[in-house]
Amino acid sequence: MKNLRNVIVFALVFVTMMSCQKDQEITTANIDSPTVAAITGSKHTHANGRKCASKTHMTDKLQDVSFRKNYEQRIQSFARGMKNNVAKSRAACSSPTLLPVAIHYQGVNNPNKSCLTEIAKRQIAILNDDFQGTNGDIVQWNNTASAAFPGINNGAACLEFQIATKNHPSGYGLSDGDLAITYNQTNGDQANQWSGYINVFVNDGDGSLGYAPFGGEGNGDGVVVAYGAFGSGSGCGIVTPQAPNDLGRTLTHEIGHYFFLEHVWGDNESCNNDDGVSDTPNQSESSFGCPGLNSVSSCGNKTLHMNYMDYTDDPCMYMFTAGQVVRMENWVNNSGLLNRLKSAASVLGGENGMVDTGGIEEDADVSDNTDTSGDTNTDTGNGTVIIPNDDTDNGGSTDNTSSTSKITLKVTLDDYGSETTFAIEDGNGEVVKSWGPFADNRAGTIITRNITLPTGGYTFVIFDDYGDGICCSEGAGNWKILKDNVQIKSSNGRFGYWEEYDFTVGSARLSGPAHRVDAKDETALAKKQKPSLPIR
Ligand code: ARG
Ligand code: CA
Ligand code: ZN
Repeated sequence: MKNLRNVIVFALVFVTMMSCQKDQEITTANIDSPTVAAITGSKHTHANGRKCASKTHMTDKLQDVSFRKNYEQRIQSFARGMKNNVAKSRAACSSPTLLPVAIHYQGVNNPNKSCLTEIAKRQIAILNDDFQGTNGDIVQWNNTASAAFPGINNGAACLEFQIATKNHPSGYGLSDGDLAITYNQTNGDQANQWSGYINVFVNDGDGSLGYAPFGGEGNGDGVVVAYGAFGSGSGCGIVTPQAPNDLGRTLTHEIGHYFFLEHVWGDNESCNNDDGVSDTPNQSESSFGCPGLNSVSSCGNKTLHMNYMDYTDDPCMYMFTAGQVVRMENWVNNSGLLNRLKSAASVLGGENGMVDTGGIEEDADVSDNTDTSGDTNTDTGNGTVIIPNDDTDNGGSTDNTSSTSKITLKVTLDDYGSETTFAIEDGNGEVVKSWGPFADNRAGTIITRNITLPTGGYTFVIFDDYGDGICCSEGAGNWKILKDNVQIKSSNGRFGYWEEYDFTVGSARLSGPAHRVDAKDETALAKKQKPSLPIR
């Protein structure tokens, strides 16, 4: 339909695929005192190379530029938090942050609901023990293993997981007082209705014990645990814990990933590659089974194989380090996750003997797209917002006085001019003329271009091939159109990949809306569906 746009979209997809093949790794080295660039790479690299490594789950969605942008913002906030937190010694945990959980059993024939409820409760109790350092087998660390790792302390998170008990999403047959457990009512690893909860999906695990998004968002995402690795004790049909993964540690491990922990070996078989946590020793590869206390990796030093973020068997993993806990708490508090989660007061009933502190804020409603007009916009449901003629403009309406007009385009660049192009198309969608791309690092530079156009209907279209418009985090770009030196339209430059505006010269009329915006602007990004970025 739009030639230039198609070319650009194709080019973007191509570039994205190419950089994926380079298999760029996220760099979390030095995350205790991180620079954002060190974590995310430049703006033009993938935020997380794991999407390339994780072949099974790599989908087109993982290429989503909006995810990258969103991810970058969350990482920045996380990084600021790390700087502040890591220096401080942690206060004792008197009232833990309450985290609402929902459990979703999937593909379970004739589910025995009371049995599955009991195993879910046991699993959450294990999760709390493991996170809070109150697991019985922590004595293995305290009495024995810690001596082998001088300077390393186990961590105790000031977090408490609870299965939600009230104000459940409708449509699941759940009443106040019921636990938030669903049976064969969700699919896969994303449940949009359950945004605001930490979701646990119990299914076949796609061939693994479990997997998780690296850095969960609380937007309906969650972790997956395989039937045979969920909970502990006696089972319920297919949901029966299987040794040696029958102590519920898979959920502990996956929630570690959900809270932005990497594997202890740093997911790269190198002795230089760290997991971004300063108190976990580098080790070159994962451990399996139940290694002896003084096992070394090929780096020569002892492996922290008893850590929940290694691959050892359930009875042989029993601790997070203090540094891992700081990092997880920081993810919860500073990545936007906690803001996204339902407040304790709203969905937790204070069962499990916990005091409801109500300390979690409700998510603000971000369902509206940004629009500077007071008009009602039409969201077409495909990311395009059609904005009625809200402007000071006479484009889109009749102008029968002249046969040609001088059209002046004024585009103020952000710092990524190389992403910006714009064009005038005629009424058939043919490009009359196009401009750009431009140089980088010229935020505020106004590109002025004139073109004289004969009577007809036209569309001005501006593109950003990164998908983050031209405003505002990389500079306050915007654009204006003048007809015969009179401004007919201005825009704040908040769009995703493109924004377009119809106008006329002479007596031509255009039918249809005059202003369309790819609504992936920076405000809207926050509510866009995050593609899962699984890690096992
Ligand atoms: N995602 C990991 C896997 O599938 C989970 C490992 C959990 N380890 C455990 N002992 N429960 O291998
Ligand atoms: Ca480390
Ligand atoms: Zn893992």
